[in-house]
Order: sequence, then structure tokens, then C-alpha cells
Amino acid sequence: MNAIERVVNNATDWFNQRAPGFLPFYKKHMTEYYAPKNFNFLYYFGVLAMVVLVNQIVTGIFLTMHYKPSAMEAFASVEYIMRDVAGGWIIRYMHSTGASLFFVVVYLHMFRGLIYGSYQKPRELVWILGMLIFLVLMAEAFLGYVLPWGQMSYWGAQVIINLFGAVPVIGPELTEWIRGDYLVSDATLNRFFALHVIALPLVILLLVVLHLGALHEVGSNNPEGIDIKKVKGDNGKPLDGIPFHPYYTVHDLFGIGFFLTIAAFILFFVPTFGGLFLEYDNFIPADPLVTPAHIKPVWYFTPFYAMLRAVPDKLFGVMTMGGAVIILFGLPWFDRCKVKSIRYRPTLHKVLIALFAVAFVVLAYLGMQAGSPAQTWTARILTVFYFAFFLTMPIWSAMGQTKDVPARIPDHD
Ligand code: HEM
Repeated sequence: MNAIERVVNNATDWFNQRAPGFLPFYKKHMTEYYAPKNFNFLYYFGVLAMVVLVNQIVTGIFLTMHYKPSAMEAFASVEYIMRDVAGGWIIRYMHSTGASLFFVVVYLHMFRGLIYGSYQKPRELVWILGMLIFLVLMAEAFLGYVLPWGQMSYWGAQVIINLFGAVPVIGPELTEWIRGDYLVSDATLNRFFALHVIALPLVILLLVVLHLGALHEVGSNNPEGIDIKKVKGDNGKPLDGIPFHPYYTVHDLFGIGFFLTIAAFILFFVPTFGGLFLEYDNFIPADPLVTPAHIKPVWYFTPFYAMLRAVPDKLFGVMTMGGAVIILFGLPWFDRCKVKSIRYRPTLHKVLIALFAVAFVVLAYLGMQAGSPAQTWTARILTVFYFAFFLTMPIWSAMGQTKDVPARIPDHD
């Protein structure tokens, strides 16, 4: 043993004696966590969501150093960050582009869950915790968008807060309580800032820890939907599993590198993504006396916004929009199919899932448009389809002939 090895060993022993729980924890979640050997690119999005979360926190801390949470100064402080603070523009764009990339990644992560049945028993809790993350993430993104105090920040806040006015009996008091004033004002901006920079990020971090904890208790699903724990070798480890570290850490590093390359391209060449990631109206300071011609949320909210607008009645519209998110919690119980992965499901399931994905994207598009009668009617039909997809799932998911799922992961993977 040379001198360096001795020092490392002594330091490791010293550490382990003082924190005896650390090594077993590391082993349980890294070197002795066996993950299916057949993960495909859709399994990158979980770790990518973690990368974007870290990006949001780090760039957010730097933005907070120069941002002023006051209705008088907020807009100018963001412009100051963009023009005068050294490296400020890239920090700001990393944060604003990061928000959109967060949703790209999370939507694909959820879609992966849908097509491989990852929410099915025993991963219901993983799904529910994921859904809680999704809810808080939406709130976090909404609050963040208000902070630059541009026209869309102001009027977006106005529209969304007013939705709470549809709540029977307590509606008006509720909106006033949320705003902290009779109109969207400095008080509103201050509380949104507090929630955005500290309260909700803490909740998200906690939920992510619980999400991964719940996943590691039951183990990951995979594109085949085969339970790898059923076939174990003499060492008690799944034959179709490989240790997370080093195999998937290295594999994930490749995915992260690929993702960061695309992210850098967007950041340097199209940071506002043609008005999709940062709307042009938000480069105009908030003006309570001038309503923008067309108030619409950022793209990741537009599928739900389209559903809100599709319903003529305000209260019913709000319930439809909220219901469209809440219904996703029920997925593990709606799906009665005895196989998990789309690969072994009947054609009917494949067609319906594909139509659902198309409907979601078209709704996102419609939510960005002004809303002609034809668009409104299309949104209505798609809203009905969206709900019907889930509510009739207990029926159609039990229909059709499934293919036999092999005991071991086949070679084509
Ligand atoms: C900040 C947001 C999130 C982070 C950081 C995150 C992180 C992760 C990670 C690292 C994994 C394991 C790797 C993988 O399977 O990709 C995972 C798995 C999973 N996540 Fe998330 N997640 C997030 C949001 C969500 C949401 C919104 C949902 C669904 C509503 C969800 C549902 C799942 C499911 C079902 C699995 C297990 C997948 C399988 O084993 O096939 N996650 N998540």
C-alpha cells in the first residue's frame, strides 16, 4: 500500500466511523441498486429533470442577488441584469429557458410513464409523488413568470388570480387574500417572490427526494414492463439488472452531455424561442391601464388554458382546467391492463394513446391562439376526448388481446 492509498483509507475509515450510515446508504442507492439493463433514451428524462432543477436553483440564486421584488423596480432590475450585470444575460436566459426545458423534460418523463405503464402496481406512490411535483412545478413557474413585472406577468397574474373568484361564496375574498390587495400590486409581487425563491423550491426538493426514495424501494420499470426481480442469480441479484453505479451514471452522463448541447444551442441562438419561452409582451413594463391584445400563458400551460377557454361558464371552466390536471393522479387505478408496456398491448391501446398525445399537442397549440369559433369548437371536442380517454380507461384498457410478456428481457433490447 503506497502513501496515497494509506491516506485515502485512513480518511475513509475516519469518515465511516463517524457517519456509519453513509456507506450503506450509498451502496443501497448506487452500487447495489440494480436497474433493468434495457433502459432506452426515454429513461434519461428523470435525471435530466434533476439537472434542470439544479440549474434553476443555482441561476435563481444569482438572479436574486440583483433582482428587486418591488413593483417600482422589478422590471428595471431585470433589464439591469440583462444589460449591465456581468454575465447577467446568460444567467437570466439559463433560468427562463431552463423553465421551459423543465416542462419539456417533465412532459416527456410523464409520457414515458404512460407508454410503459410505469405508474402501475407497485409504482403508484412514485406516480403520485411525481404528480405532486408537477402541481408544485406549475405553481412555481406561474409565480416566477410574474416576477419580471412585464405586461404578460401582470395580466397573466390578473387572469389566473381572478379564476379563484369563481369559487362559490368565498371567491371575492379569496382573490383579495391571494393578491394581498384590491388589485395585483406590489404586495402581490412581494409574496409571489417569497413563494417562488424559497417556499416552493423547498417543497419541490423534498418531493423529489421522496419520489426517488419511493422508486428505489420498488425498483425501476423498463421499456418491456418486465419485473426483473422475478429472476435472480445465485448472488440474489436480478439477472436482467445492472448496478446503477457505474453503468447508469456513465450512461446518464452521455445523455446529460447531449441535452446540454441542445440547451446551449437554444440559449445562444434562440433564447426566447420565437416568443414561446418568453413572450414579446413581457418585454414591455407592466401597465395596469393597458390590457395586452391577447393574454395567454406560456406554452406549457396552454393545453390546460385551451380547456378553460373551451367552457363558456367560468366556474365550470375552472373545474375543467383543474380537473384535467387532477385526473392524472388517478391513472394507476384507471388502467386495468394486465401488461404494463405499450409493446405488449393491443393495437386499440396504442391508437388511443397516440391520439391522446396528438390531442394534447393540438390543445397546446389552440391555447396559444386568439380563439376563433372553429378553434373553440376543436378545443371543446378535444377536451371531451381528453377526459373520455381517462374516464373510459377502465373499460378499454381491459379490452383486446395482449401479447405474452417474456420472463426475461429479450435480446432485441
Ligand atoms: C422535478 C421533477 C422530477 C424529477 C427530478 C424526477 C426524477 C426521476 C428520476 C431520476 C427517476 C428515475 C429515472 C427515470 O426513470 O427516468 C424517475 C422515475 C419516475 N418518475 Fe419522476 N421525476 C420528476 C417528475 C415526475 C413527474 C411529474 C411524474 C409523473 C407524474 C414522474 C413519474 C415518474 C415515474 C412513474 C417513474 C418511474 C419510471 C419507471 O421506472 O419506468 N416523475 N423520476
